[in-house]
Amino acid sequence: MGKPIHVLSGPNLNLLGTREPEIYGHETLADVQARCEARAAVLGHTILFRQSNHEGQLIDWVQEARTDASALIINPAGYGHTSVALLDALKTLAIPIIECHLSNPAAREAFRRETFVSLAATGVVSGFGAASYELAVQAAAGLIGAPRASA
Ligand code: DQA
Repeated sequence: MGKPIHVLSGPNLNLLGTREPEIYGHETLADVQARCEARAAVLGHTILFRQSNHEGQLIDWVQEARTDASALIINPAGYGHTSVALLDALKTLAIPIIECHLSNPAAREAFRRETFVSLAATGVVSGFGAASYELAVQAAAGLIGAPRASA
């Protein structure tokens, strides 16, 4: 078994299930983790699943992924729209990066239409609720070991 796929979730996603359920759904973050683990197992991969409300912690985990992960899935939540530092950390990775959102930020307020993270992402999955994470696992599994496409 190779290195795990790291799955990072940013601020307020610990409140999934109770936070604006009309936008983010009724499943909890634990439910999302279970979905990711189940999908990864089918595909022959393992998952390291973590959430933080703190920008610096997320950056530390992105840096850790440089050596310890086969791919990185990140739902940066609000920091996606604000954090140049998170983008800079992501740019140091040589592994596939999948940006993931439960909602479709492009169909919401104007300030959500741009994410810094997208500038470093191999691809983006958004708008499918908890299934976005599963689809991101599927995408990551397909990219692991594949040559990196240049933009
Ligand atoms: C989100 C979308 C972001 O705009 C928002 O700040 C979040 C969650 C999503 O998963 O849909 O916190 O990343």
